[in-house]
Amino acid sequence: MEHGEKLYACCLVTLLLILCPLTSSLTGQGKALMSVKASFSNEANALLDWDDVQNDDYCSWRGVLCSNFSISVVALNLSNLNLSGEISPAIGDLRSLQSLDLQGNKLTGQIPDEIGNCGSLTLLDLSDNELYGDIPFSISKLKQLEELILKNNQLTGPIPSTLTQIPSLKVIDLARNQLTGEIPRLIYWSDVLQFLGLRGNFLTGTLSPDMCELTGLWYLYVSHA
Ligand SMILES: *[C@@H]1O[C@H](CO)[C@@H](O)[C@H](O)[C@H]1NC(C)=O
Ligand SMILES: *[C@@H]1O[C@H](CO)[C@@H](O)[C@H](O)[C@H]1NC(C)=O
Ligand SMILES: *[C@@H]1O[C@H](CO)[C@@H](O)[C@H](O)[C@H]1NC(C)=O
Repeated sequence: MEHGEKLYACCLVTLLLILCPLTSSLTGQGKALMSVKASFSNEANALLDWDDVQNDDYCSWRGVLCSNFSISVVALNLSNLNLSGEISPAIGDLRSLQSLDLQGNKLTGQIPDEIGNCGSLTLLDLSDNELYGDIPFSISKLKQLEELILKNNQLTGPIPSTLTQIPSLKVIDLARNQLTGEIPRLIYWSDVLQFLGLRGNFLTGTLSPDMCELTGLWYLYVSHA
């Protein structure tokens, strides 16, 4: 190769290396949002402006909040929009998500395992839907999580014992589901926990021995009804 050609090739490669990660992350989050929309089934009116053809600035779409410093989606709030359908596994591609609020819809299906990829989540509120299946173990990968609100769904199976590995959980509300099995030993939740709602499930086991260790707890609701 001539010197000029080499230089050109080199520049081209450098340019591609610089541009590629940028463009793919640009389309990546927008694409993920479009997949999230596609798995809802009556979003036509509610998510009218989620339209990558008319407006590819997904940060301006309803319910989407981007970071002030980048085009990363940090919050998604689609609460009370009467959405049905399912939560797409593509939610896990929104890696910078800190808050996910989908409460008060009619979402069915399972909570996707991929939710565990949203490692920055501090709030996960999927309450008042029709979600079923197990609470995925992957939730315990959300090490920043402070509020886990899954009440009023049809979730079954045990409370994952690995939930106790999330150090910052302040609010756990799993009330009115169909959860079975033992209540994990509360002692692991230490003094950070402020609210624990478990009522309206089929849980067994006792709370008493560990209760005194929960110095921060101000609300506990575990009755069967
Ligand atoms: C962006 O900046 C505004 C004003 O400073 C602030 O109120 C808002 O919380 C910031 N948003 C995010 C997502 O950081
Ligand atoms: C989502 O939006 C609703 C309605 O505006 C609001 O009441 C709610 O607090 C928001 N959720 C979060 C997590 O900010
Ligand atoms: C919610 O969506 C259903 C269709 O899935 C529709 O029949 C119902 O009227 C909607 N309710 C409201 C309050 O928009």
